[in-house]
Amino acid sequence: MRLFTVLLKNTKKIEYYSRFSPSPLSIKQFLEFGRDNACEKTSFMFLRKELPVRLANTMREVNLLPDNLLSQPSIKLVQKWYMQSFVELLGYENRKPEDPQALNDFLELLIEIRNRHNDVVPTMAQGVIEYKEKFGFDPFISSNIQYFLDRFYTNRISFRMLINQHTLLFGNDTNPAHPKHIGSIDPTCNVAEVVKDAYETAKMLCEQYYLAAPALQIQEFNMKQDKDKSIQAVYVPSHLFHMLFELFKNSMRASVELHEDSKEGLPPVKAKVTLGKEDLSIKISDRGGGVPLRKIDRLFNYMYSTAPTPSLEPSSTVPLAGFGYGLPISRLYTG
Ligand SMILES: Nc1ncnc2c1ncn2[C@@H]1O[C@H](COP(=O)(O)OP(=O)(O)O)[C@@H](O)[C@H]1O
Ligand SMILES: [Mg+2]
Repeated sequence: MRLFTVLLKNTKKIEYYSRFSPSPLSIKQFLEFGRDNACEKTSFMFLRKELPVRLANTMREVNLLPDNLLSQPSIKLVQKWYMQSFVELLGYENRKPEDPQALNDFLELLIEIRNRHNDVVPTMAQGVIEYKEKFGFDPFISSNIQYFLDRFYTNRISFRMLINQHTLLFGNDTNPAHPKHIGSIDPTCNVAEVVKDAYETAKMLCEQYYLAAPALQIQEFNMKQDKDKSIQAVYVPSHLFHMLFELFKNSMRASVELHEDSKEGLPPVKAKVTLGKEDLSIKISDRGGGVPLRKIDRLFNYMYSTAPTPSLEPSSTVPLAGFGYGLPISRLYTG
């Protein structure tokens, strides 16, 4: 009986919170809030409502998935994480922002929630694979799931951004190496540096698999700022890193697979960073043979991969490719 009452109360709360729409926030707003003496109480009062609103909205959308998908163990696990975080956040509905203990507890909770949700992407992917193996996919279901996952992961990116801004601005985990960062935003992000970092990380992974990796050739065209200076942008370096890392892994795999046995060695992967009058663009190109036009549409499909499906065992090494999530998730980061 008690369990039933608790469940009913939570269902009511989900209904209540999902009636509100999430407040969209721009990088500019994050910067303005974080720049001059950001107020922890204000952030606390905003987030204790905004985060449950976002979780409730997402949970409602998850519940609309086909029953056969919802009954997969991995999807149930993801649902459990969302529910637990939602309920824990509700514990702050009536706590006083003037109470320093409440602020501290809240910050700790945000870190716990962030960690709990770390593996949402591979777990969700696992659920979809389980479902596909048992029931198969028709094109209708496939496009619905594609639509759902795009929204689901986009929400997750902004949810984590909100948490990170709070914990970085008000917690002890501020990064002493980057005193100029506003939370996770770098107002003077050196784009080429991030390109190099992402390349190096992908290179290590590639060398583990193939014992070789293509070199990097990087070029900058700065048409707007001081022409001889490297290009800077206001950006979240971790997001940029993520996208470039995925592109480099793809380029490296294609290059090695095609040229492994060639006498001339591996052709380099090229990165061109351009700042025009209005836009910043980064182009990564490789000589790995490309993708036939006929297959271009599939690239952004979750689960489309030409690599064998990697093991999901926790002890297994990080795979270079195979989940088919690299390109679709990277596109979400581009907004
Ligand atoms: N630079 C590239 N050259 C050739 N094929 C590519 C390249 N990038 C992506 N692809 C193709 O697109 C597929 C999907 O890429 P991605 O979404 O990153 O998933 P994964 O790398 O896990 O397979 C790859 O399996 C590969 O067949
Ligand atoms: Mg990939």
